[in-house]
Amino acid sequence: NDQPEIHKGLAGVPVDYTAVSKVNPETNSLLYRGYPVQELAEKCSFEEVALLLWNGDLPNATELASFVAFERSHRRLDPGLRLVIDALPVSAHPMDVVRTAVSIMGANDLASGTVSPEADLEKAKRLFAALPAVIAYDQRRRRGEGLVEPRDDLDYSQNFLWMTFGDEAAPEVVDAFRVSMVLYAEHSFNASTFTARVITSTLADLYSAVTGAIGALKGPLHGGANEAVMQTFTEIGTADRVVPWLDDALANKKKIMGFGHRVYKNGDSRVPTMRAALERMIAHYGREDMLELYDTLEREFGERKSIKPNLDYPAGPTYHLMGFDTPTFTPLFVASRVTGWTAHIREQAAANSLIRPLSVYNGHDERHVP
Ligand code: CMC
Repeated sequence: NDQPEIHKGLAGVPVDYTAVSKVNPETNSLLYRGYPVQELAEKCSFEEVALLLWNGDLPNATELASFVAFERSHRRLDPGLRLVIDALPVSAHPMDVVRTAVSIMGANDLASGTVSPEADLEKAKRLFAALPAVIAYDQRRRRGEGLVEPRDDLDYSQNFLWMTFGDEAAPEVVDAFRVSMVLYAEHSFNASTFTARVITSTLADLYSAVTGAIGALKGPLHGGANEAVMQTFTEIGTADRVVPWLDDALANKKKIMGFGHRVYKNGDSRVPTMRAALERMIAHYGREDMLELYDTLEREFGERKSIKPNLDYPAGPTYHLMGFDTPTFTPLFVASRVTGWTAHIREQAAANSLIRPLSVYNGHDERHVP
């Protein structure tokens, strides 16, 4: 058989080396630069994890202090960018708004900036600092609420919640938010990261790569799943309605959002940590009914298909309880994953080879215009 083998969806195909993270489905582990993600979620701020992903090592106290100061001084929503956001309809999906915002930031920055590995790290840090204001303001304008200015006495997670809701979040809420940011930050060659690497491989700029990655993340098979999980919960309503809903969904060959994974087949390594954070939110907000719905759907689906939840399953209801509007969930994923994307963009640029696979033609035989 001389037909080349097709690897649909590149499933199971290693395409390059990476030192950013290691996913091991056999041991159900995920390491960022060698550190187990659970340990980072327990012990580190999101700011520390961002530096770890970019630099390869955890920062020392001076490096962290310098980045924290940088981040706090780059949080304000640029007035020009605000005008662009205001020009977008409130019916636009928040992922389209954040994608447009990154594109605008790129056009502005590249008009004056330089392109180099150091400049790329600076751009990554600026995006990290600037995205929360975009996402928070976008949710507020949809609700007819005004801009909340950032506060530089608050850390990243506290300030994100402050700019979104205009009040200081309880420490347990801040902590659950931080955990979600750490867990979402990086996951090897997932679809959006691979998209960013493909764009970088053509020697295009970092903003183009991040803009493309946001487009890839939007889809419900990838980041859009956290939003889709909440839509499922809303549709089902209460735990006693899970069984008929599920039977109907499966009879109609629907995918159950927040379940399954291309790489993990025995459960997503990040789920236990995120589920524990969700449980703390359920206790904090007194919403045991939501945990019942969560557990019932997981159990009933597991009995029918033995497919396990992925990170989006506990993340969706966590963000809902915190008060985020459902369409804002995937932009929160962007705010986190921009760290992993930009670490990969720099890794790709440092050892580049144009990503250009082959296809096997199965169209018409050669023919000619009459
Ligand atoms: N609901 C129902 N059936 C499923 C699901 C699901 N969530 N996931 C997998 N299956 C079935 C699928 O129908 C197929 O069955 P069959 O062999 O009978 O046709 C089998 O399991 C293999 O699934 P697949 O879609 O071929 O596997 P994949 O590796 O291509 O897909 C996936 C992985 C994540 C796209 C898929 O599991 C899925 O669509 N899940 C729902 C969306 C989701 O939660 N995405 C988030 C992914 S993880 C975090 C992130 O990126 O945000």
